[in-house]
Amino acid sequence: VNAAERPVAVWLVLSMLASVGFGIAYALDANGTLPHGNQWLGGSIAAALGCAGVATILWSIRLVPPEQVLEERHDVPSSRADRGAAGAELTAGVEVVSRRRGLARLLGGAVGALGLASLFPLRSLVGENPDATLGRTKWTAGARLVREDGSPLRAADIDEGSVATVFPEGFAGDADSQTMLVRLHPSLLRGDAAKASWSPDGFIAYSKVCTHAGCPVALYRNDIHALVCPCHQSAFDVTKGATPIEGPAERALPQLPLRREGEYLVAQSPYPEPVGPSWWDRR
Ligand code: FES
Repeated sequence: VNAAERPVAVWLVLSMLASVGFGIAYALDANGTLPHGNQWLGGSIAAALGCAGVATILWSIRLVPPEQVLEERHDVPSSRADRGAAGAELTAGVEVVSRRRGLARLLGGAVGALGLASLFPLRSLVGENPDATLGRTKWTAGARLVREDGSPLRAADIDEGSVATVFPEGFAGDADSQTMLVRLHPSLLRGDAAKASWSPDGFIAYSKVCTHAGCPVALYRNDIHALVCPCHQSAFDVTKGATPIEGPAERALPQLPLRREGEYLVAQSPYPEPVGPSWWDRR
C-alpha cells in the first residue's frame, strides 16, 4: 500500500473493525449484558457502512485517473507500431492493477465483514412460537371473580345496568385477564343460544382488552347496552355477544363463560378464544 492508497486502506480497516464490533455487540445484547444495546448495534453498523462509504469516495478521488482519454478512429488494421504500443499500455495497466492487489483484498475483507454482520440479526428470527403464550389468560375453570383489590365479588353487589372490572382470584390486576362484568335483565340477552348458558341471571362477562388495538374497554353506555373503548370509540353490543356496532374494531370481545356458585360468580372455563387485538391470530 503506497502513500496515495493508505487513507483508503485505513477506512476499509475501520469498516472491518466496526463490523466485528457489531457482531460482539449483538452477542452481548443477546445475553442481556450490554447496556444501551440498541444504540451500540445501530452505532456499530452505521460506522461500518460509513467507513466503507468514505473509503469508496477516497478511492474514486485519489486512485482513479481523472482524465478522459479519446482515441481517434483509425484505419483497420493498426500499424505494427500501434499494436506494439497498445500491448505495452495493456501490460502497464495490468501492473497498476496488480499493485493494488492489497487494497482490493482489504475491500473484499470490508465487504465480507459487512455481509457477515448483516447475517447476525437472522438469529433474532429464532424464538418461541407466540401462539403458545398469547392465546392464554389466567382464567381457569372454577376461578372466582374478584375485584381489582383482590376481594371476591358477590352477585348481590352488582345491580342491573351496572358493570364491574373483575379478575380471576389470585391474579387481580393481570392485564390480559381483565374482564368487564355486566348485569342485564335476562330478557335483553339475544344471539347465540349456546352462550346464553354462560350468563347466569343476566350476568355476562367479556374481555376488557379491545379487539382493535388492545386498550381497556372501560366505558359502559346503559342506554344502548354497549361497552365503549375510549381509544377509538369502538362500541360493542353486550346483548349480542359484544359484536362491534361502531368504530374500527371488527371482532367481538371474547365472552367468559360464567356460573353461579352460591353468592359468588365463577368462570366455567378459560376464554374459549384468544383475547386482545385480532391482528396476530386472525389476519
Ligand atoms: S383500541 Fe379500542 S377502539 Fe381502538
